[in-house]
Amino acid sequence: MAQAEFNEHQSVLLSESVAALNIQPDGFYVDATFGRGGHSREILAVLSSNGRLLGLDRDAQAIAFGREAFRDEPRLHLVQAPFAELAEQVNDLGWSGKVMGVLADLGVSSPQLDDGQRGFSFRRDGPLDMRMDSSSGVSAAQWLAKAKAAEIERVLKEYGEERFARRIAQAIVREREVAPISTTARLAKIVADANPRWEKDKDPATRAFQAIRIEINQELQQLQQLLAQVLTVLAPGGRLAVISFHSLEDRMVKRFMRDQARGDDFPAGLPVTQAQLNPRMRLVGKAIRPGEREQAENPRARSAVLRVAEKL
Ligand SMILES: C[S@@+](CC[C@H](N)C(=O)[O-])C[C@H]1O[C@@H](n2cnc3c(N)ncnc32)[C@H](O)[C@@H]1O
Repeated sequence: MAQAEFNEHQSVLLSESVAALNIQPDGFYVDATFGRGGHSREILAVLSSNGRLLGLDRDAQAIAFGREAFRDEPRLHLVQAPFAELAEQVNDLGWSGKVMGVLADLGVSSPQLDDGQRGFSFRRDGPLDMRMDSSSGVSAAQWLAKAKAAEIERVLKEYGEERFARRIAQAIVREREVAPISTTARLAKIVADANPRWEKDKDPATRAFQAIRIEINQELQQLQQLLAQVLTVLAPGGRLAVISFHSLEDRMVKRFMRDQARGDDFPAGLPVTQAQLNPRMRLVGKAIRPGEREQAENPRARSAVLRVAEKL
């Protein structure tokens, strides 16, 4: 059940991302990361009575909230599913190749971070879970109990850009011999103790928690799969808008859009026409970042980047 006290989420780049979708009132749309429905509400406000919106979220609490908050909204279909299943979910509605816009607002929501019981936050003690879908996969505690030191180090370094990845990984392996690491407070302390140089204005556990969360939820693999399927669901003229919060995600989105806009690879020097290149998308504008005001009002927005492309 969605708990009323953890339902506040301030949507990032709300008007910019909905404007970027260039909504056709009668069109079919997908909000791949429903959350608390901030973006969905804006999309529905522009759709006519013929328009339809599919809202996906892998988090049962997000979907439970949406079913309640949007119970009088017949144009919204809500499904608890990872967005790596985009093509399948769209196909189930008979919308393949007909979707006019897909929005993905990546990462975690405030309700997930604010509820200590979900295990995402180093600021709130709770069971070390970190799964967006608490019913599948392994929790952070289960992963940390078994993963090899080298694997933990890789995750901390790659997904958290943690300079002290090796030290922290070794400390985790040492401490788990003493007792299982099963709470967020214990992990936060192990990381802080192993971290010799604290960054200004940043909790020493920030990077490690982010990295472990990305691993547990396979966030980059999910994004890769979403991108791989998006062209099959979009109609010509349909748009993809992605809001990323992590440089690895943004790089993946940027490369995907650039490659689709560029078309097929040909050996250098071969004279090929634009049509032979077979571009599949066109870039819509440049990357958009939140303005100073949004960044001041919503610290979560500080690392956000919105990129948009349109299927040809
Ligand atoms: C930043 S929040 C979205 C907030 C939403 N746009 C709003 O305005 O309320 C991200 C949401 O996406 C969900 N999510 C993240 N990765 C997902 C995935 N791979 N598949 C489905 N949902 C995902 C999370 O559970 C979370 O609820």
